[in-house]
Amino acid sequence: MQRIAIYPGSFDPVTNGHLDIIERGCKLFDYIIVAILHNPNKQFLFTVEERIEMLESCVKDIPNVETDFYNGLLVDYAKKRKAQAILRGIRAVSDFEYEFQMALMNRRLNRNIQTVSLMTGLRWIFTSSSIIKEAAKFGGDISGMVPQLVEQKLKEKFSQNTK
Ligand code: PNS
Repeated sequence: MQRIAIYPGSFDPVTNGHLDIIERGCKLFDYIIVAILHNPNKQFLFTVEERIEMLESCVKDIPNVETDFYNGLLVDYAKKRKAQAILRGIRAVSDFEYEFQMALMNRRLNRNIQTVSLMTGLRWIFTSSSIIKEAAKFGGDISGMVPQLVEQKLKEKFSQNTK
């Protein structure tokens, strides 16, 4: 039986912290589906198509990783994709409460799907999509925190927004 995990998130945009979790998750699971939340009612900087494009370009050389999107309940999507686990990264203590709550709710919704949380690499402990967007918006240097393509896309997005 293939061990399949869903790595869900907003990925608005993908960061080096996310990629660290994907690379390490690949050693635990046979197949990882990076699943982007597509919620038309939620405000994202990048469209779902843009987020998929960036992620696909970042994981193209990893053979057992696929990129997809979902809406609705995560556990329903996981069941549909025959995944046994949800993979999540935890950075600081501040993440813990939210992750714990989400893991318990998901377990209540479907007891056959386990949440596996990996502690983030020390280098990425303060890296988040939100803080990176905030810095990029005001022209801050975000090199080394996101892949080069994402850095470029953020620059383009914020230059568009100021036009
Ligand atoms: O990267 P994020 O924004 O912290 O990811 C959160 C995400 C997208 C994994 C979570 O909000 C989600 O899966 N939402 C879909 C609805 C759902 O199933 N929620 C969890 C149980 S109520």
